[in-house]
Amino acid sequence: MPETHSSPEEDKSVLQIWGKSSLKGHVTISGAKNSALVVMAGALLCPQDCRLRNVPSLADVSRMGEILASLGVKLTRQGDVLDINASYIGQSTAPYELVSQLRASFFVIGPVLARLGVARVPLPGGCAIGARPVDLHVRGLQAMGADVHIEHGTVNAYVKGPSRRLKGAKIYLDYPSVGATETLMMAATLADGETILENAAQEPEVIDLANFCRAMGAKIQGAGTKTIVISGVPSLHSADYAIIPDRVEAATFLVAGAITQSEISLSPVIPDHLTAAIAKLRAIGALITPESPNCLRISPGHGLTATDIETLPYPGFPTDMQAQFMALLTVSEGDSIVTETVFENRLRHVAELNRMGADIRVKGNHAVIRGVPTLSGAPVVATDLRASAALVVAALAAEGKTTIQGLHHLDRGYENLDTKLQKLGVKLQRLQGDSTTEVETAPLTPIAPN
Ligand code: UD1
Repeated sequence: MPETHSSPEEDKSVLQIWGKSSLKGHVTISGAKNSALVVMAGALLCPQDCRLRNVPSLADVSRMGEILASLGVKLTRQGDVLDINASYIGQSTAPYELVSQLRASFFVIGPVLARLGVARVPLPGGCAIGARPVDLHVRGLQAMGADVHIEHGTVNAYVKGPSRRLKGAKIYLDYPSVGATETLMMAATLADGETILENAAQEPEVIDLANFCRAMGAKIQGAGTKTIVISGVPSLHSADYAIIPDRVEAATFLVAGAITQSEISLSPVIPDHLTAAIAKLRAIGALITPESPNCLRISPGHGLTATDIETLPYPGFPTDMQAQFMALLTVSEGDSIVTETVFENRLRHVAELNRMGADIRVKGNHAVIRGVPTLSGAPVVATDLRASAALVVAALAAEGKTTIQGLHHLDRGYENLDTKLQKLGVKLQRLQGDSTTEVETAPLTPIAPN
């Protein structure tokens, strides 16, 4: 795929944002990162051409493309259209260097195993937000008849027997893991017989993957509920499929509007995917109105008030929106408690927000946020993808200039964020440099057009 994005090692650029400006106008929401990644993996199930539309241009999408290419798959990208041809999968082993950079790439294990009867995928390892094991993926594949053993950090899975076909099974997930639901749903599409996934994840991206698989001829019912029933078919056929809009990006812009007390509109969005976020924004004091079925407007209400948030599997409040909402709560009047229940190490943005003048204390998986009148711009470091978005949002409301390092996190999940914010009236610039101090004198780099 003709896309380049900076790797963590090469990432010397910083984003400078001057806060306190009011946002105005309309922002276009890109395709959902998490849908695009898993749907790309799902295309491995199909021995014919698949065309994916509304695919965001992101570092994570490029990495997933590299993983598919390493398996022998052909990919061509033009704008937001990605053509994938997995008629030939020459490799059943995904390379460690690539899998270790993108946890979602582990999800290829399901479709590769379903197609070839053998798959070898390195364990993705820990990441900034927690240990993130894959035991639920593995146990589910074992229930479907796969022999799975982990050796030298690689998950080796194969299916015995002449047909090398997985078998339908009744699988109960101890936790409604998004990734495990997706892995097992993909694997079950080509299995012999019926698979029932109980306590499945209900996230919109799971539904999107099911819809894509159905477009290829898979028989799936109940995606979006706790019970998904998949009747295996012998093979799938080509499909042309558009990815849903990114609900996390949409929520991030809604928070940007709320924290700056601005009026902006966003589309395309699926408001039902944003129910928890909209409920919390209204509780905090923002006004949100539908402009049309796929367009939302946010406008200022009467100030910002504290509220409590607990992250949960969908339809609960999403962990991927927790950091951005915490940034908003730092300037909301009163005390808020944010409880992170999905990942064990996802409060690392707290220290950076405190550097900007926030008053947050962490105890275990709880953060107590005491609203302050204003934040002040400071040099800060992004620790993970959504933490970086939280720092951007905080910078919009801060007095003076904030300089954010660690932009490779931001580039993983936000398409053209700089350009989109500039169009809304934010004063910002991305600079190349080795450190914030050097950056002050470094030459300006124009924001890459897209
Ligand atoms: C996906 C999303 C991620 C989001 C998360 C939760 C993608 C590419 N990423 O990640 O943005 O934050 O859902 O909404 O879609 N777990 C186990 N064993 C397993 C699998 C998961 O214990 O086999 C645990 C994890 O460590 C974590 C929790 O379950 O604590 C939720 O993880 P999961 O829903 O699987 O998230 P991902 O699919 O990795």
